[in-house]
Amino acid sequence: MRELQGRVAVITGGGSGIGAALAHACAERKMRVVVADVEADAAEEVADAVRQRGAEAMAWAVDVRSRAAVDELAKQVRAHFGKCHLLCNNAGVMVTRPLLELDEKDWEWSLSVNLWGVIHAVSAFVPQMIAHGEEAHVVNTASIVGLAALAQGGLGAYTTTKFALVGYSEYLREELKAAGVPIGVSVVCPGAVTTRIAESERNRPQELDTGPAPAMPGADPRVDAIPGKQSPEEVAASILAGVEENDTWILTHPEMKPLIEARTRALLAAFDVAGDRQRS
Ligand SMILES: NC(=O)c1ccc[n+]([C@@H]2O[C@H](COP(=O)([O-])OP(=O)(O)OC[C@H]3O[C@@H](n4cnc5c(N)ncnc54)[C@H](O)[C@@H]3O)[C@@H](O)[C@H]2O)c1
Repeated sequence: MRELQGRVAVITGGGSGIGAALAHACAERKMRVVVADVEADAAEEVADAVRQRGAEAMAWAVDVRSRAAVDELAKQVRAHFGKCHLLCNNAGVMVTRPLLELDEKDWEWSLSVNLWGVIHAVSAFVPQMIAHGEEAHVVNTASIVGLAALAQGGLGAYTTTKFALVGYSEYLREELKAAGVPIGVSVVCPGAVTTRIAESERNRPQELDTGPAPAMPGADPRVDAIPGKQSPEEVAASILAGVEENDTWILTHPEMKPLIEARTRALLAAFDVAGDRQRS
């Protein structure tokens, strides 16, 4: 989507970290901004700050786990701004617990925010985008661990959701392209970013509480322990550049390339093994 000025951006998880930085970056491009977050006060604060720089902004409290709540958000956006052009599915949570020690509640919380949250918003907003017919874009924030599994820090549930989100996003992009509608889709796969993601538990609903995560010797549970940390502002700038170019994958951390190369090489080698087995 080349033209951002005057367009409407909806950002889930806009109350903190990458989402808040995105709200400011969108405002800088003279977009109108909807800051949606489960933390109502945080969303209000960011919307206020965005308004102070002269942009139009609206805050909305939403738990993306709820389809009804996300539908209401879409209704409010239509009532206030008429159309949504840029949907940033950024809300996300990180559970840190070894895979085999994950409780069903850990899975439910991870999947309901990181995957169902995106499905809900795409289902609520993309039909509106198709109907208004103007150029539009969906950005889903996955992670570098959506492209390669890092067996550290108890990121099993998180990794599962982010791999799924990469597949979902690639498929959505292809389907919308095949339908001939002017809606691009990008998936963002950042490495470590200095945000509050390691404090995700602050938003875990009580009914899904599983108690304190166990200590994990030899592994740092914080994604931001990976070298090459970026600021949310740097990531937000990369995201908008990727939206303008309609990038399939918005990659922010070039130092992560060897990790993906190693996985891709191993994957391609598995085809060679398949060929060898077929011939023998
Ligand atoms: N920080 C990193 O190192 C990193 C790396 C790769 C990907 N990401 C992804 O970036 C995205 C943004 O996270 P961040 O790093 O800015 O963390 P953050 O914790 O600072 O921000 C996440 C935001 O999502 C909101 N949120 C949580 N649950 C929600 C729900 N159910 N409904 C609505 N909003 C909800 C939180 O209130 C918060 O404002 C996430 O999807 C995360 O997985 C982060």
